[in-house]
Amino acid sequence: MSDKAKLVLGDKTVELPVFTGSEGEKAIDITKLRAETGFVTLDSGYMNTGACTSAVTFLDGELGILKYRGHSIEELAEKSSFLETSYLVFYGKLPTASELKVFEEKIASYNDVPEGIKTMIKAFPKDAHPMAVLSSNMVSLSAYYHDLCAQDLTPAQKDEVIVQLMGQLKVVAAYAYRHSQGLEFIKSDGSLDYCSDFIYMMTGNKNVSKEVAKALDVLLILHVDHEQNCSTSSVRMVGSSKANIFATISAGVDALWGPLHGGANQAVLEMLEEIKNSGKDYKTFLAEVKDKNSSSRLMGFGHRVYKNFDPRAKIIKVACDSVLKTLGVKDPLLDIAKGLEEVALRDEYFVSRKLYPNVDFYSGIIYRALGIPTNMFTVMFAMGRLPGWLAQWKEMVEQSGFKICRPRQIFTGDTKNTYIEIKSRS
Ligand SMILES: CC(C)(COP(=O)(O)OP(=O)(O)OC[C@H]1O[C@@H](n2cnc3c(N)ncnc32)[C@H](O)[C@@H]1OP(=O)(O)O)[C@@H](O)C(=O)NCCC(=O)NCCS
Repeated sequence: MSDKAKLVLGDKTVELPVFTGSEGEKAIDITKLRAETGFVTLDSGYMNTGACTSAVTFLDGELGILKYRGHSIEELAEKSSFLETSYLVFYGKLPTASELKVFEEKIASYNDVPEGIKTMIKAFPKDAHPMAVLSSNMVSLSAYYHDLCAQDLTPAQKDEVIVQLMGQLKVVAAYAYRHSQGLEFIKSDGSLDYCSDFIYMMTGNKNVSKEVAKALDVLLILHVDHEQNCSTSSVRMVGSSKANIFATISAGVDALWGPLHGGANQAVLEMLEEIKNSGKDYKTFLAEVKDKNSSSRLMGFGHRVYKNFDPRAKIIKVACDSVLKTLGVKDPLLDIAKGLEEVALRDEYFVSRKLYPNVDFYSGIIYRALGIPTNMFTVMFAMGRLPGWLAQWKEMVEQSGFKICRPRQIFTGDTKNTYIEIKSRS
């Protein structure tokens, strides 16, 4: 195939370069299209737009493949740890044992936040959503670390802010939860691994079983990165203005909160509860979500890019059975989720639209079994996605040809109106 694409516009033919990615994906480079023809592209919702080149994550939605830096998600979930996988996405290679140790120790050293941040968390109403607390405190960190808010960070500063945020987001998340329960903050215990320490800081339980810590670790690995999803694109967008990294990560948290993105895991649990409490049968419930006049959806189903299956959902479904078995938990919501999935996967509506369970369909049931409350689910997603946001931000600011992100639009409003004095307006 030629490395040029031809575009015929009336009697003019323009040649556009074709860019080929390392997995063979092809893109037409339209950077010069407007300059040469006066045309821009129109792609509402970025359904078919490659907004950047990236070497962090590859996913194939048709084949259900997800890889971080060339490592399959299945292999990482089985063999790696959340912090090792984080190192991998930041630096593009698996760490040696000593590199990993230093990295883990540095993250563990950021085991607290400034007093002002603690005061701010305590000032929130107890029923504040923890995502509101997380987002506002992420940006507030910029008020305390002025050096790290410089327009261009040195490589050493970038390395430092990465470990700092990996440590401090966990602290803010745990403190937000403690505050919502009217409980005192618990200081991090450096002798515990990342996930056990987080559960300890939330619950006060220091004897977190290996199985529980591992289950949480796997969930975080599965969330680490997902190429140009809504929150990561927000991080790139905000970071491209050279906003500081704290503001940039806060933007990622905000975008993640929406129920069509990371907020779906909370919405799934609420949906399953509703089905349980109302006693609705699956078919009646599915008829509601299929109804074009209703705004409800089958939460945890469907994905912009996965049109066959979501590889993360496959791993989570198996993990869900195993975690509940290990913990001896019998959760009726798991039975409802499985029943709903079975009926939906046989329903023409879902089959024809290629709607399958996504990462959020079963993750909430595991969080629940691990004792993590529903309104913390999206915070857990943020904790898992943080390395992806940081890796993509780092990649963007280090890439040659760095530019502020600024899409165009096609104007469809009025072209000329006359100003009528207010007293004369009807
Ligand atoms: C993820 C999601 C936002 C992707 O959206 P998208 O790529 O823009 O797809 P669309 O919203 O255009 O949906 C395509 C069609 O499938 C339907 N659809 C998509 N997801 C659906 C769902 N979960 N329940 C019911 N119908 C759904 C849409 O109504 C639309 O139907 P139509 O063609 O008859 O109009 C969407 O599938 C969704 O809202 N899922 C539920 C929320 C969720 O789980 N989000 C987490 C994602 S990891």
